[in-house]
Amino acid sequence: MTRDGGPLLKVEGLRAFHTSKQGIVKAVDDVNFEIYPGDAVGLLGESGAGKTSVALAILGLFERRSRYYSTVAADGVTKKLWSQKDEARKKGLTSEDLGIDLPGTEGSVWFQGQDLLAMDEDDLRKLRGDRITYVPQGTTKSLNPSKSIGYQTGEPITSRKEKKADKEIQEMILDVLDIVDLGDMDIRKDMFPTDFSSGEDQRVLVAMSLISKPDLVIADEPTTAVDGAVRNKILDAINIARKQMGLALLMITNNSSIVAETCDKVGVMSSGRLMEFGDVTTVMKSSRHPFTRAFLMANPNMEMIRRMKEKGLRLQSIRGSPPSAVALPSGCPFNPRCSYATNICTQTVPDFREIEKDHWVFCHHSEDLPEL
Ligand SMILES: Nc1ncnc2c1ncn2[C@@H]1O[C@H](COP(=O)(O)OP(=O)(O)OP(=O)(O)O)[C@@H](O)[C@H]1O
Ligand code: SF4
Ligand SMILES: [Mg+2]
Repeated sequence: MTRDGGPLLKVEGLRAFHTSKQGIVKAVDDVNFEIYPGDAVGLLGESGAGKTSVALAILGLFERRSRYYSTVAADGVTKKLWSQKDEARKKGLTSEDLGIDLPGTEGSVWFQGQDLLAMDEDDLRKLRGDRITYVPQGTTKSLNPSKSIGYQTGEPITSRKEKKADKEIQEMILDVLDIVDLGDMDIRKDMFPTDFSSGEDQRVLVAMSLISKPDLVIADEPTTAVDGAVRNKILDAINIARKQMGLALLMITNNSSIVAETCDKVGVMSSGRLMEFGDVTTVMKSSRHPFTRAFLMANPNMEMIRRMKEKGLRLQSIRGSPPSAVALPSGCPFNPRCSYATNICTQTVPDFREIEKDHWVFCHHSEDLPEL
């Protein structure tokens, strides 16, 4: 994955494991990908695949949240796992060194030459909300009902140490609210989130993610639970901002049409693993992975629906259910649901390998699949 200037973000051997009474929950396991400046990368996959966990891990939020929720439960198994993690970290040891699965994050997330996973919280906070911003999943809960829309939109810059003149801030607020197309914001910016529809609130959160002119925006299902018109406005706003600001995007979604409309590259996730990564046209039209093919047949984009109709093909759901992240099958986690599985698939974890330039797959049998 090389290109002049190098990647903006490089995710290397990323693991993000939760704890539960039953033991370790492998939300993200050995995920590797890169995002170049200005690129839009989709992270596509079924519910529970680990997409949000990848986002939280990049932002340095995964471990703190996971630990917080598990200590609320505070059973003996989770306590022991987290204390093992603390001991290992003090000694600079990893799961691999100890031969056991530790909770939390491991691996590296390189951003502009710094490993975010090794950074202390103060330094990370300076990047988060400024150079890397996040539009969280389930967005409208993220707005404060008692603060005005204008105030909250400006918060990512007003909360920073280097203060800007009030006039400059007001102009920046109106500029980003204009990108998300919220109408006459001169007046409406003084209103509160409850005075806005949920689709409008969602666009306010997109505006908040843009105001600092970040290098990377991570948008986690930003169009969930909105109608088609609002969805288009949100996607248009993201596309306009990308062009105006040259920012890179990580678009998390389970909708292949959104990836086709907004992204240059896509990673397809299942059971915490990146199953395939490549440019959108290659992955959507010439996938070399059984999971990607099954997922796209079950969740086609508009062009695929047209092609399927021409060929007389019908929508097909992926057979079986995703395995539990606490008890994944050995070998390839897709093997119980895969029509191409052989013995090696149940015994050996595939490598994530580059089968052609910039096209990566996690499968023993990519080369044996029939042409699409
Ligand atoms: N706090 C937690 N404790 C234990 N397991 C968790 C916790 N949060 C998430 N998980 C599990 O981690 C796995 C990955 O979850 P994640 O939220 O990253 O998936 P996702 O791909 O974003 O799904 P969705 O499309 O539904 O948002 C799932 O098996 C989920 O049940
Ligand atoms: S490794 Fe085997 S089980 Fe996994 S996707 Fe490839 S063929 Fe299917
Ligand atoms: Mg999610």
